[in-house]
Amino acid sequence: APDLGAIQEVIEAYTHLEGPLLPILHAMMEAFDHVPEDAVQPIADALNIGRAEVHGVISFYHDFRTLPAGRHIVKICRAEACQALGANGLADAVLTRLGTSWHGTTPNGAVTIEPVYCLGLCANGPAAMIGDKVVGALDEAKLERVISEAGA
Ligand code: FES
Repeated sequence: APDLGAIQEVIEAYTHLEGPLLPILHAMMEAFDHVPEDAVQPIADALNIGRAEVHGVISFYHDFRTLPAGRHIVKICRAEACQALGANGLADAVLTRLGTSWHGTTPNGAVTIEPVYCLGLCANGPAAMIGDKVVGALDEAKLERVISEAGA
């Protein structure tokens, strides 16, 4: 995990901005590939806001994750057309089976599951993206296969 000095450095680079919270969180992603839990208190202190507020912003935006990503990222579409084709139930089932949740990483560290909002494959949903490959017409078995091929 990144040390507090490195975290502090990132924070200090942005505290002069008006509305520094989002720039700081983006900079954390850039520097550490996630927003470390250890950064929440220092951010709250620096900006004079509560921890809950920092957590709220982190969980509101889909760009931020609080743990390092796995070796592969699988993005499951949660936009309307895919939802209408059952994407949510599909995702829930797979997340439960993998023992993780949105933005979470499988226990073996191989695969991180992220939501995505439309992959341009709406007519052939539910859709997901593994690395830079888009796959459609997913059912549970197909999605599981794709994820296990990624090493989960
Ligand atoms: Fe899922 Fe467009 S809504 S690909």
